[in-house]
Amino acid sequence: MAAQPRNGKVTVVGAGFYGSTTALRLAEYDVFETVVLTDILEGKPEGLALDMNQSRPVEGFETKVVGVGGGSYEGTEGSDVVVVTAGLPRKPGMSRMDLIETNAGIVRQVSENIAKTSPDAVVIVVSNPLDEMTALAQIATGSPHHRVMGQAGMLDTARFTNFVAEECGVPVSSVRTLTLGSHGDTMVPVPSRCTVEGKPLADVLPADRIEHLVQRTRNGGAEVVALLKTGSAYYAPSAAAARMARAVMEDSGAVMPVCTWVDGEYGISGVYLGVEAEIGRGGVTRVVESNLSDDELAGLREAAEAVRAKQADVADL
Ligand code: APR
Repeated sequence: MAAQPRNGKVTVVGAGFYGSTTALRLAEYDVFETVVLTDILEGKPEGLALDMNQSRPVEGFETKVVGVGGGSYEGTEGSDVVVVTAGLPRKPGMSRMDLIETNAGIVRQVSENIAKTSPDAVVIVVSNPLDEMTALAQIATGSPHHRVMGQAGMLDTARFTNFVAEECGVPVSSVRTLTLGSHGDTMVPVPSRCTVEGKPLADVLPADRIEHLVQRTRNGGAEVVALLKTGSAYYAPSAAAARMARAVMEDSGAVMPVCTWVDGEYGISGVYLGVEAEIGRGGVTRVVESNLSDDELAGLREAAEAVRAKQADVADL
């Protein structure tokens, strides 16, 4: 049997829960040549990489995982994609915004290192607060806006889809949902794009149940944090980030809800915001503008203004 071609190098910065699950998912796709996992901690990424590589004969993948500790970027050079998961997670009762100062310092330092070692990489940020950290990573890498994006919409959409499927008692594969806006209080559900077995969500569930599921989605991260008590979610988040990285490497042109630079679309300019975008080798190849109802559009514009001011502040953090 001909060997399957594997291409490219993906680096995951931060070998905590989010980073290590992302690295494993990426490796298990078996489409990359190398997945590099790094951390400031000495030994942890090396140990996790060793462990993941030893799962290869069982799971049947050949992608090599390389662990690099001690804050070194040796071995990450020339990465095609870098996923930034470095930073503190929330504890119960904290908002994502409570992390801004600490994580800004970390994301800035990581971004400057990426710019030195992998200047052409597409950067996918997941550290929180997401919209602000994505904006900061673009500033600190100096990369073009389309090459720096954030993961949030894929996750919020997945959460919403899961809740709707459970409520309706149908497979997740028969549900379509969409959320735009920020990864936080101004997340904007898009009911006009939500269907269950092809039927509009509004025809399947009463308005108060839909609103309940929207609220649960908006608080989806906090609900997990409250249960875990020691950190934040990582299985669904890493699934979303890994899919984005794969879409970049495969130049798939897939349309996904991501946090990207909006420049005129929906009458909104100059802000990182959750919208649908086409993902390819260059990062975001196109923001996909779709027809929104007046309420949805108003919600999206409100979200843009809510994150705009905070994003302007991160330049000084
Ligand atoms: N460079 C590299 N790694 C770093 C740095 C740095 N400058 N600073 C911290 N780290 C590492 C930590 O050593 C730790 O291993 O980042 C990792 C974070 O892991 P966890 O504490 O397990 O957090 P995790 O759940 O992975 O979340 C990471 O994603 O969802 C967001 O809000 C979450 O901002 C948080 C991030």
